[in-house]
Amino acid sequence: MFSASLYRERRTKLGALMSKGIILLPGNIESSMSYAANHYPFRQDSTFLYYFGLKRPGLVGLIDLDQGTELLFGDDIDIEDLVWTGPVASLATEAFEVGVSHVRRLRDLKGYLDTARSTGTPIYFLPPYRPEHTLQLHEWLEIPIKEIPASVSVLLIKAIVSMRSIKGEEEVAEIIKGVNITNTMQLAALKYSREGMTEAQMGGKLQGLAIAGGGNLAFPTIFTVNGQILHNHYGDNKLTKGRLVICDCGAAAPSDYSGDLTRTFPVDKTFTPLQKEVYQIVLQAQETAAAALKPGILYKDIHLLACAELVKGLQGLGLMRGDINESVAEGAHTLFFQCGLGHMLGLDTHDMENLGEPYVGYTDTLIKSTQFGLKFLRLARTLETGFVVTVEPGLYFIPELMDEWRAAKKLEQFINYDKLDAFRNFGGIRIEEDFLVTSTGRKLLGDPLPKTVNEIENLRLCP
Ligand code: GLY
Ligand code: MN
Ligand code: MN
Repeated sequence: MFSASLYRERRTKLGALMSKGIILLPGNIESSMSYAANHYPFRQDSTFLYYFGLKRPGLVGLIDLDQGTELLFGDDIDIEDLVWTGPVASLATEAFEVGVSHVRRLRDLKGYLDTARSTGTPIYFLPPYRPEHTLQLHEWLEIPIKEIPASVSVLLIKAIVSMRSIKGEEEVAEIIKGVNITNTMQLAALKYSREGMTEAQMGGKLQGLAIAGGGNLAFPTIFTVNGQILHNHYGDNKLTKGRLVICDCGAAAPSDYSGDLTRTFPVDKTFTPLQKEVYQIVLQAQETAAAALKPGILYKDIHLLACAELVKGLQGLGLMRGDINESVAEGAHTLFFQCGLGHMLGLDTHDMENLGEPYVGYTDTLIKSTQFGLKFLRLARTLETGFVVTVEPGLYFIPELMDEWRAAKKLEQFINYDKLDAFRNFGGIRIEEDFLVTSTGRKLLGDPLPKTVNEIENLRLCP
């Protein structure tokens, strides 16, 4: 938790951006797994955390700009709850720690909102991303469920995105904690993954390290020998000789700020010559893209720069041919790099994705492309000092996609289809790091982690 004054400053700034009405920011409630009392680990809503800092379930933050008050609605535990939970600080005590002096019971929220609605006060809220949010909004505001998506406040979304996009020093310090816990996970995977293990055996150890770091996984780990499947969560495949492993994992620090790193390594102690060659192509693209990060540049242009580097490398490998810029413009590289280069990172791994990509990654005038590949680019807009972003190019050899394109002779002026057979069982390679955009360029967040072929092989060769 940060200081009470920081939360107060954030709420005041949000209030100034909105100017009037009521800002309704519900926190999350417990979510049940298999029976009511069996909960998933509690995860507070990120926007609620940003403005109200408290992790307890069942709170609602409200900023009443017309009355000039900030309130927290929620309930204290009673003696029967205490039997199960032990003593819990009163809501008033916790509210004081985040600079809120007005606390009400949750059951008073509806009446408060009814009064506001009866006087025509606008009530602003964000898009719900859990079914219970939709039901709460329906109950509190008497909006038909079907009308809720169209009733969210774009003004509020834009105001919050403008604030959460620029990370303060205290937030960057927390992201670094998340990245450094993620580093310990990556180092464990690099050192201790061995032939014969299942993906889940290592994935489980990585989750243990995230929890030991004081937080938890920020997202389900991707630890797989099928790295060509972009979001393939670990399972019971065995690590077998000759395969590559993609390890894409992230710890959330105790504050919930996230790390997000990917390394790719051989099950064996060393890469094969072909694996090494493809790895160098991805590394070159990753380093070129990272070096181009600076305020004022479109992230979309950095994505395209990385694509051009990948095409250059694939031409060297004999898989592609023709003009590099034309190949990228036509999307020929998307046979091997189907997704976007990266995303914002913060309290969420895909930061603020619940607020809507058109506002987080794009603008009113920069609209998302519908072209295969570009349509998966989460972030395109101009970078600003204080943004935290990932850079994560990859090459993914998906047999089904290669077969489909080959049968259709798709973009065959750019692709040497007869050379693809050697790659049917290659898998995928991704390299991912997290960067702060600074006034002069960029800063790698967290301690440096082995990344070159030599650095990775040196770790794999450890007994
Ligand atoms: N870990 C998911 C991603 O890198 O976007
Ligand atoms: Mn990522
Ligand atoms: Mn990742």
